[in-house]
Amino acid sequence: MHVLLIGSGGREHAIAAALRRSPKLTRLTCAPGNAGIAAIADLAAVDPADHAAVIAFCKAESVDFVVIGPEAPLVAGLVDDLSTAGIKAFGPKREPARLEGSKAFTKELCTEAGIPTAAYGRFSDAEAARAYVLGRGAPIVVKADGLAAGKGVVVASSVGEALAAVDACFSGAFGAAGAEVVIEDCLVGEEASFFAITDGIDVLPLAAAQDHKRVGDGDQGPNTGGMGAYSPTPVVDEAMEMRIMDEIVVPTVRCLARRGTPFVGVLFAGLMIERDGPKLIEYNVRFGDPETEVLLPRLKSDLLELMLASVEGRLSGNIANFDERTALTVMMAADGYPGSYRKGSRIEGLDEAAALPDVSVFHAGTAVNDGAIVANGGRVLAVTALGDSVSEAQAKAYAAVDRVRWPDGFCRRDIGWRAVAREKSAG
Ligand code: AMP
Ligand code: GLY
Repeated sequence: MHVLLIGSGGREHAIAAALRRSPKLTRLTCAPGNAGIAAIADLAAVDPADHAAVIAFCKAESVDFVVIGPEAPLVAGLVDDLSTAGIKAFGPKREPARLEGSKAFTKELCTEAGIPTAAYGRFSDAEAARAYVLGRGAPIVVKADGLAAGKGVVVASSVGEALAAVDACFSGAFGAAGAEVVIEDCLVGEEASFFAITDGIDVLPLAAAQDHKRVGDGDQGPNTGGMGAYSPTPVVDEAMEMRIMDEIVVPTVRCLARRGTPFVGVLFAGLMIERDGPKLIEYNVRFGDPETEVLLPRLKSDLLELMLASVEGRLSGNIANFDERTALTVMMAADGYPGSYRKGSRIEGLDEAAALPDVSVFHAGTAVNDGAIVANGGRVLAVTALGDSVSEAQAKAYAAVDRVRWPDGFCRRDIGWRAVAREKSAG
């Protein structure tokens, strides 16, 4: 089977590596890919935003199955257009992808399906939004409605900060994404990411992970796309996983099926685990980045077969088996990220790092220049290791990070700190 994978991040490198393990795969092409993916797949210079070009490529190259990594092509309806052209693709269609494309859509679905989430209001004018903030007080969370690359959310600790965030949204700071604003209560607890795969009817839990969104050690500094992750995570034990499935994920899938717009693909629930149970912060309609770099190295089942079963509506009876060890990944980013950064700096030592036992080095923003690997983005490498505990996986991941010679990059040194502290206090 010839599979076309859409995307270019560490997530897609991890997906490519997992697809390669499938006996069903005969050829793997990635568009546009990166320097790491190039070692295990053909790269195609096809723009995923140009749906006609993707369809033409699939026809010309006899692509049997398309796997879409990032959210933008899903929200833009690439799966709808491929399926109209008779091409199978993994991921939700445009309407159910609104779970990620519109925060207000998700909040309304939560109300309809009785899913626990923060109380909220949605506003299309600044005056009403400001009045709501003044009525509710702080802390309070202000969100641009649409896709804003993770930057459209302000967790405001004062009313003044919240009012400034409202004004920023309505003055166009997030473009069209900020034409509508969702304001919600601040949830308190520990965050976790939970992944499930569904064919629209049956839902198979995959695994949970914990991301580290802030740029600096101790969760300080601005938010990023994610600086590291580990899986599984002690906040989501078996009992919590059952509650997340029963109270959040399954009701969501049922609700979309009832509406006649079934969700097919990977559903990624961003959760706050509060004292009284899980609350939904947001949905993503795809695998996470960097969560995929810890989820898929643990997956023992055939990823391609699970994806095909999901698209073909025969997920029932399948199981997803995971290695019980912990995987932990450290993101290495270009100096300056998440602000402005330089491209083109040379990176060495990658083969030495990847040769360590239980280590995988996934490329995110990399390219090849004059035969050398160079940085080509903000988040550049995800260095993953497997270990018998979070502490062991962490030590192995940092040992691999320390083999990478990249003077213009940095990483957090404390990925997994919550779980490591728990392991230490448990003795
Ligand atoms: P989102 O883009 O909705 O995932 O929000 C980005 C980050 O903002 C989340 O990962 C949380 O850390 C934080 N956040 C969002 N909504 C809330 C909330 N209601 N309460 C507390 N923190 C939140
Ligand atoms: N790690 C968060 C995301 O993929 O959106």
